[in-house]
Amino acid sequence: MSTTIDPVTNSTNAEIIGRDEINDLEAILSVTNTDRDEVINHVESHFDTIFTWDYEKGARPKLNRLYEKAKGSMWNGETDLPWETEVDQVQVVLQNAMNAGGLGAGMDLSGTPFAKWGPDEWVQFGIESQNWTLSQFMHGEQGALICTARIVESVPWIDAKYYASTQVMDEARHVEVFAKYLDTKLSGHYPVNAHLKMLLDDIIQDSRWDMTYLGMQIMVEGLALAAFGFIHQLTTEPLLKQLLRYVMSDEARHVAFGVLSLQDYYKELSVAELRERQEFAFEAAVRMRDRFLQQEVWERMGIDVKEAVKLVMESPERAGFQAMLFSKIVPNCKKLGLLDAGADKGKPGWLRQKFTELGVIAFEDWADTGEEYEMFALANGEVESQTQPA
Ligand SMILES: [Fe+2]
Ligand SMILES: [Fe+2]
Repeated sequence: MSTTIDPVTNSTNAEIIGRDEINDLEAILSVTNTDRDEVINHVESHFDTIFTWDYEKGARPKLNRLYEKAKGSMWNGETDLPWETEVDQVQVVLQNAMNAGGLGAGMDLSGTPFAKWGPDEWVQFGIESQNWTLSQFMHGEQGALICTARIVESVPWIDAKYYASTQVMDEARHVEVFAKYLDTKLSGHYPVNAHLKMLLDDIIQDSRWDMTYLGMQIMVEGLALAAFGFIHQLTTEPLLKQLLRYVMSDEARHVAFGVLSLQDYYKELSVAELRERQEFAFEAAVRMRDRFLQQEVWERMGIDVKEAVKLVMESPERAGFQAMLFSKIVPNCKKLGLLDAGADKGKPGWLRQKFTELGVIAFEDWADTGEEYEMFALANGEVESQTQPA
């Protein structure tokens, strides 16, 4: 197989994502969590902390509007959610399978590790899968908490510092409610997935303030908004449904914060600078796609991880689910000019080519999230503890 070399920066896939072929299964599975009992993850980073003496509020009117909106949209994770709800995980799994069809539905599983599975194994798999999914959401939320605290320090504009400070509070609440749901309603935690951890570490190690936004607000939160939406629609469990509804109303603002902050800034960057952003967006996209192969769940279920993941990758349903995860990211990258930056004489932009390789380019004309947060906003009276109109 020849090495893919790009003509502008000569960055190879191997340099950006650590392998030449996007779907190289051996390479994907070689990334594993080496210390599962680790309690502290120490990441070294250097960045400039920016004070601004320009306090003119509203110099960036769209960010100011978002900040005002955020102040009136806080909810309380302890008191606004019906924690008294009893959750029967087996019922939830059966209900989800009825709504969405399980993995392997309609596929010939003979000769695969799943051939021997009966209903009990499939239910157990559903339970593990749920524990895993919510655990990764929780870890991702902590990533958002930390990245947004960083943005308060590193972004040069007062309107953005103000808004970011409200997002820090939102993310604390999100970590809190996912942790509480896992502890009191589900049946076990998973450590952070190695691909997700690699991405979070990369974001926080980059010293450029806009890269924190691009990695977190555009890529991680863009994917989270789509994933939460999918599960919100799928689940009939009322507590999780409400929890996700509240979280999504915040997340839509967070993604808008990314789009509104980067939109003008990226107009000032050179093609070479934009290219670095394109490569970072591609790397993040691949890491997030890899994490959804949920290799730790297969391991815990005691079946051959490689064979299981291969089947997952071939499953037509899964392909649709994975593509859907990019339904917010692709239009937002387009709005930021990242899809087509550097396009030349009929040669498509670099990120457009990469998203085409990943099979997600079809979402480019879906609604971007710059203004969509209004649609996700909680209605007056939807949350008891909100005293101001949302
Ligand atoms: Fe969040
Ligand atoms: Fe968020």
